[in-house]
Amino acid sequence: MRYRRLGRTTDPEGFKTTVHAVIDAGINLIDTAESYENGVSESVLGEALVGRDDVLVETKYRPYDSHMPNANYTGSPERLVASVEGSLRRLRRDHIDILLGHGIRSLATLDRFMSDGCYGAMVKLREQGKVRFIGISELSEGDGTHQVLQRAVPSGAFDVVMLTLNFLLQTAADAVLPLCRQHDVGTVVMMPLNQASKASGLVSVPAALECVRRHTAAGNLPAEPPYTDPGLFDFLQPLSIPEAGLRYVLAHDIGTCCVGMQSPQRLQENLRAVDPPYLDTATLARLRGLFGRIQMQVR
Ligand SMILES: NC(=O)c1ccc[n+]([C@@H]2O[C@H](COP(=O)([O-])OP(=O)(O)OC[C@H]3O[C@@H](n4cnc5c(N)ncnc54)[C@H](OP(=O)(O)O)[C@@H]3O)[C@@H](O)[C@H]2O)c1
Repeated sequence: MRYRRLGRTTDPEGFKTTVHAVIDAGINLIDTAESYENGVSESVLGEALVGRDDVLVETKYRPYDSHMPNANYTGSPERLVASVEGSLRRLRRDHIDILLGHGIRSLATLDRFMSDGCYGAMVKLREQGKVRFIGISELSEGDGTHQVLQRAVPSGAFDVVMLTLNFLLQTAADAVLPLCRQHDVGTVVMMPLNQASKASGLVSVPAALECVRRHTAAGNLPAEPPYTDPGLFDFLQPLSIPEAGLRYVLAHDIGTCCVGMQSPQRLQENLRAVDPPYLDTATLARLRGLFGRIQMQVR
């Protein structure tokens, strides 16, 4: 019998194999969230991690009713605690290494999260040893210039933040990373390949060109050469687009970088980008000249 993949549905065995390959390769942080596949991501990860304590687990509580930028804020300390208890159960762990408030998308909702008991509940969970470190992740589709993190990082409230950085959204390099260094806040980069799909993102030349086309359509880049040139990315060769994308992120002073991968083969491809040399200053300057003005994530 020849089996085929049914869309995005979860394949626990394949997932387990990938998780074990990731840990065996020396990767020591895995990111998930309660809201990913309604807890299924945590459950299959928990199953894959049985007997594997040699990895840090980061998970998240989302105080909104959806992932959309205009979602309603629904945070409460009771829900946060219940969410963490559920995460611990699904992950089969007695503690979570990093707990993030998930996708904090505006200054107003950051303020609510800090004052309505949610932040206090995180601190208490940390005191109880159920969580080791606390932080927030941002929502770059809604906050491409990182206003939330620019307020949150200097507040001293958080150990870690999760932020978007990739060569099509470079704003965090100046707006967030120096602040994190100054305040000794750990940085977990998300979406290094611009949260790619096969059609758009930093996974192939056609997908990267499609992303550029979407930026020109949105008015973020001029619809003229070099942006309309099919050879726009030739200067990155011999690196592939994903390898250049990862080597772009790793050229910065970051703590770690989470890249989505579904197979051990993908892992092998991406491990190639882990060690230096990362992108050189001339290539970084060229990417900044081309895309540094983009201030909003477009997928
Ligand atoms: N607000 C938030 O807190 C938030 C929002 C979004 C994401 N995140 C987190 O950020 C991390 C990364 O996000 P992400 O997975 O959406 O984005 P990503 O890492 O930028 O992109 C992942 C996509 O790129 C593909 N890919 C990876 N390596 C590749 C390669 N070498 N060649 C071709 N394709 C490749 C993957 O395909 P395959 O699946 O086929 O391997 C996957 O579709 C995750 O940990 C996620 O949980 C957080």
